[in-house]
Amino acid sequence: MEEADIGLIGLGVMGENLALNIADNGYKVAVFNRTAEKVETFLNNSGELRANVMGSGDLAAFVAMLKRPRSVIIMVKAGQPVDEVIAELKPHLAEGDVIIDAGNANYHDTVRRFSELDGTGIGFLGIGVSGGEEGARHGPSIMVGGSEAQWKNAEGVLTAISAKFNGEPCCAYLGTGGAGHFVKTIHNGIEYADMQMIAEIYGIMRDGLGMSPEACAKVFTEWNSGPLDSYLIEITGHVLAAMDADSGKPLVDVIVDAAGQKGTGRWSAIEALSLGVSATTIEGAVAARSISAMREERIKGEEIYGAGAKGKATISLEALEKALLAGKIAAYAQGFAVMAKASEEHGWNLPLDAIARIWRAGCIIRSRFLDQIAQSFAGGAGTNLLVQPAFVEMMKDSSAALRAVVATCAINELPAPCLSSALAYFDAYRQARGTTNLTQGQRDFFGAHGFKRLDRDGDFHHEWPSLVEK
Ligand code: 6PG
Repeated sequence: MEEADIGLIGLGVMGENLALNIADNGYKVAVFNRTAEKVETFLNNSGELRANVMGSGDLAAFVAMLKRPRSVIIMVKAGQPVDEVIAELKPHLAEGDVIIDAGNANYHDTVRRFSELDGTGIGFLGIGVSGGEEGARHGPSIMVGGSEAQWKNAEGVLTAISAKFNGEPCCAYLGTGGAGHFVKTIHNGIEYADMQMIAEIYGIMRDGLGMSPEACAKVFTEWNSGPLDSYLIEITGHVLAAMDADSGKPLVDVIVDAAGQKGTGRWSAIEALSLGVSATTIEGAVAARSISAMREERIKGEEIYGAGAKGKATISLEALEKALLAGKIAAYAQGFAVMAKASEEHGWNLPLDAIARIWRAGCIIRSRFLDQIAQSFAGGAGTNLLVQPAFVEMMKDSSAALRAVVATCAINELPAPCLSSALAYFDAYRQARGTTNLTQGQRDFFGAHGFKRLDRDGDFHHEWPSLVEK
């Protein structure tokens, strides 16, 4: 009875939707879940896709349903549960089979799992799947890393179920080991920065300009037809326009201002710091979520220091739109720079153009902007986005607006951690003569760490005066 093209373990929301997507694309999928009733319910609710789905609450029976070489997707909670499933599954598999972790894994775990299976003949793929519930059902963006040989087992199915941009599948093999999950982590880091910058612009509209949610919604909806055209801008319009049936108020006004975070944004910032790459917009976004969660302290803070100057800002909506574009360029420049460095460090040879291409549809950060990035990076031009000709033009046109917006925020006591990080990054990136000559002097003063000179090669140390009184 080996008839299923692929297996899937874990019938949570994402797992169920992925399985239905597979079935909808004409492939046969077998499902397994620890709670066997879930399998039953899933099969009973599969409607017209019933002919393409099968499953069992018994692991051995589930594996027996799969065509060889077998491909098994695991879609369970990241961390320990993934290790538990691999341990249970492994004895049932054979050489040539492949285990595919489709959760939001920390790429360090993926690297470990990949090497733990090394030598067993069983392959391991860590795939980043973006697009939420709807993406899983109708076409996510899929970032693949791991065993290249066994990628062939699952390539047909995963390519078929992925989102399509002008007919091109948003699914690609990106590199060995943890490459896929690393790229997904950075995708989420960029997602955090993008979302935070949108929230900061909303903050200026609400607190600086005194605009209603309805008025803000209209502006974001309009912006979605311009250079900011993206899924995140589109949903922002919908979120701001939604009304709460219970209170009769705009829903956004009754939602608590404390953001959750599952970890991928933080991992992005940690990886950037470890690699020594500046990703201050991502760090700013993670920090903004952390401070948002300290609601009680913020309420006390406002009592002590007073609120910002409400409704006093003078800034045009056009400047806000351009500032958001400039901030976005800086954030994506940082995210791509982190991936370029990680690629070098791990020998992944990450195709930055392909990454931009598979992010053009299906994923949470999908946008018109990513098509422009894909074009800029085409053919392996792997330098910082800030020096790619198309983005140079955009930045020249929009950076003054970013500066005006950050200045407006500072004067009106409105926090803009991400937009101001973006501006600081841009200003530092274009400053030929920075200020760390002084830092090097200080380091040499107290620690004899040495310095380099502009006028001569070599390492130098200066005999600084002693501050100890003799
Ligand atoms: C995606 C999303 C998805 C999920 C994040 C949210 O690409 O589909 O990024 O992975 O929504 O886990 O992360 P936070 O809970 O940390 O915001």
